[in-house]
Amino acid sequence: MYCIRKVTNDLLWIGGNDRQTPKFEAAHPVPRGMSYNSYLLLDEKTVLFDTVDRAVQTQFFENLEQALHGRKLDYVFVHHMEPDHAATLGDLMIRYPEARIVCNGKSVNMIRQFHCADPNHAILVNEGDTISTGRHTFTFANAPMVHWPEVMVSYDSTDKILFSADAFGTFGALNGVLFADELDFDRDWLDEARRYYTNIVGKYGPQVTALLKKAAGLDIQMICPLHGPVWRKDLGYILDKYSKWAAYEPEEQGVLIAFASIYGGTETAAAILACRLSELGIRTEMYDVSVTHYSYVLSDCFKYSHIVFASPTFNNGIFDPMEHLLRDLLHHNLQNRKVALIQNGSWAPASGKLMTQVLCEMKNMELLQEPITLKSALAPGQEKELEELAQVLAASVKGEASTPVQEPAADKPKGFVCKICGFIYESDTLPPDFVCPICRRPASDFEPVT
Ligand code: FEO
Repeated sequence: MYCIRKVTNDLLWIGGNDRQTPKFEAAHPVPRGMSYNSYLLLDEKTVLFDTVDRAVQTQFFENLEQALHGRKLDYVFVHHMEPDHAATLGDLMIRYPEARIVCNGKSVNMIRQFHCADPNHAILVNEGDTISTGRHTFTFANAPMVHWPEVMVSYDSTDKILFSADAFGTFGALNGVLFADELDFDRDWLDEARRYYTNIVGKYGPQVTALLKKAAGLDIQMICPLHGPVWRKDLGYILDKYSKWAAYEPEEQGVLIAFASIYGGTETAAAILACRLSELGIRTEMYDVSVTHYSYVLSDCFKYSHIVFASPTFNNGIFDPMEHLLRDLLHHNLQNRKVALIQNGSWAPASGKLMTQVLCEMKNMELLQEPITLKSALAPGQEKELEELAQVLAASVKGEASTPVQEPAADKPKGFVCKICGFIYESDTLPPDFVCPICRRPASDFEPVT
């Protein structure tokens, strides 16, 4: 049975909602499901705006057949070839062989790659090209890397609608509603919209900014994305969010504490720091990165102005879940944040230095002070260090102090660590005939502790 919603007098939503697949793109949990939007225009010519993911193909083809009501399908605009939209394009070409695919040259190559089919009667469009379908005229604009290289958007100058591909999408199934103004978007959807943006498109801020500049030159009254609700009111709200996200500007002045903890020592320090920050009136959020999926933590790293990373040392490295998060932040180009570190290591703490190295690969990440070092757990009197860190963070959040950028701490040997077993010989010099008392390795297997 079909399940359709009317967008305008001659435009229908004919997509589908998937509430069963646990992870979007096999990576990101979607506990609230996912919508795959497709639209059909009933003008003098009929136009399908993208197909859908395989998960909702049965619903989609029933919707399409019903919406066409016996009419011929004239055009299929392919804005994005990623299979969450184009997986059913091959089937569509078989079912509607007369439909002419409208896409750019990059998409043609991908159609061949994904569907082993040649859209030999495709209409290739370039930046600024137009197609009239009767009452409506569409202009095409390329939006490379929002989120794949072939992405394009189209603008209906008749009804002033932007068909925006992945841009302005969100995680979450549409449960009967279609328009953002039918929801309390800020309360119920913004977090998932941010998580979608940051994880899917967050790496490509400059490309999103370029698209926003193109959009700024248009009179847009409605945005029809490929995921999530349609925007027909208060477009400035979502455009402002996108503008901040694309520029890697924080939305909130506050502190996110991302911690990992094996036996609780690091967690206790993180919790005490959170208490001190809250007492100072600083908005604070905490995540255990071993528990919370990294996509949520990454999203809040984009949201907050200040981030504290607290991690044990593990196998002489950063504890795995924290290392994964940091690498994910690096790969998503997070930048322009103020950062502090807490490291833990029962015999050779090294996570502080290693986390600093990853942060130094990112742009404009300002380390507010040298890492606080725990040895297994907070030592008596060390709570003072957390109190001082809270004050440094609070002053920075409130803009009360300009804190100088600190480069990664220079190597300062405080001893020598056995590369085999981790034993530390605490001295400024290591005797050449020294032998590790634990594993009996010679001095050549030691290196300076930094
Ligand atoms: Fe919704 Fe990039 O696909």
